[in-house]
Amino acid sequence: MVKTCIVGTGYVGLVTGACFAEVGHQVICVDNDLKKVELLQQGGIPIYEPGLEELVKKNVAAGRLSFTGKIADGVKESEVIFIAVPTPPRPDGSVDMSFVEKVAREIAGAMTEYKIVVDKSTVPVKTGEKVSETIRRYNKQKVDVDVVSNPEFLREGCAVQDLMNPDRIVIGVLNERPVTKMKAIYAPFKAPIIVTDINSAELIKHACNSFLALKISYINATAAICEASGANIADVAHGMGLDKRIGRAFLNAGLGYGGSCFPKDLSAFVHIAEALGYDFRLLKEVQQINAEQIQRFLKNIHNTLWIVKDKTIAVLGLAFKPNTDDMRMAPSLEIIRPLQKEGARIKAYDPKAMDKAREVLSDVADALILCTEWDEFRKLDLEKLRSVMAQPIVLDGRNVFDPKKMAALGFVYKSVGR
Ligand code: UDX
Repeated sequence: MVKTCIVGTGYVGLVTGACFAEVGHQVICVDNDLKKVELLQQGGIPIYEPGLEELVKKNVAAGRLSFTGKIADGVKESEVIFIAVPTPPRPDGSVDMSFVEKVAREIAGAMTEYKIVVDKSTVPVKTGEKVSETIRRYNKQKVDVDVVSNPEFLREGCAVQDLMNPDRIVIGVLNERPVTKMKAIYAPFKAPIIVTDINSAELIKHACNSFLALKISYINATAAICEASGANIADVAHGMGLDKRIGRAFLNAGLGYGGSCFPKDLSAFVHIAEALGYDFRLLKEVQQINAEQIQRFLKNIHNTLWIVKDKTIAVLGLAFKPNTDDMRMAPSLEIIRPLQKEGARIKAYDPKAMDKAREVLSDVADALILCTEWDEFRKLDLEKLRSVMAQPIVLDGRNVFDPKKMAALGFVYKSVGR
């Protein structure tokens, strides 16, 4: 058992805290939002994440997990302190590191003995060195500290599962001293642990997310060629994915990537590279293709509906992806906003991102646009859908339905790259 403190109870911090407690560590979660702390103390959960509520409740009851608004309490009680606060983008796309810096100073202010301070937030390369310098500078008693980089790779919507069953654990260090304790924290997770220098660990996170985004833009660009040539992107992705060197994951064509990570992390990586004197043109193109993907879909909508003004358009799925209530950088918004601007009436439904009932569909709609591939949409009774729509037009931004089946049912059906 290791005594840990997690500063920041967002997606990463809260899930990390709950999972650490689940495998037997002692965990104190700290947040400066006292309302959130209170909610958590009462057994409430500020986000929707499958399995999280049960895990939090269970571990609070077992006395392994607690919440506080005071960073000093967490620091005092713990051997290892994790920083899991936001690193939001600034207007120019670079990373706002002020929350991490502030927490580093607060930890320094509360430290009276040796601690390991671990950065879990996604940060620019060389941040660990800065955090180490900051803690040493602001700790009056000049106690020793080791700063570690331990990036988190969890996905929203399956965060608990990802954290409990990671592909790998990355530990970046400035010296060997904190390695044994870090390995002790992760031993119960039974995943390969790699130990690197701190800069490499920080880079692994940005390099991974950017590579995954690259895969998505690659398949979306290929989808454009499929549309122009009459090929089928589903078959192309399948054929590519069977090559072990490529793999099928992240080759789903659609409206492109959104969310709180990929758009921000790509911008950050481009900026980080620039600051280090490298023009990462490849990633700029990835961003460009992602933006164009929305435009291509909007064009498809216009080609199909001709005029959208005064038409009622049902939108299924608002969250940036299934199984989350997260609307940050959701492609759905980039589809809905321009249509609204042109005078379309939008009726939207999302299972979690919005407290709205299924009635949206039984309304008379001129067209249906699918933006997020929630499972419940896959199970829709298509014949019934066909019967309630004023016009049987479906524009599927996530390739959820089978084009042949849709045509047989009498739908005008458009999807991406097929
Ligand atoms: C991502 C990374 O996967 C995770 O490792 C990191 O810690 C945080 O960022 P997340 O943003 O939760 O996680 O979602 P993810 O499932 O990776 O999807 C990102 C976006 O890509 C979504 O908008 C999704 O719809 C889109 N996507 C994904 C595609 O368009 N096609 C695909 O094939 C896969």
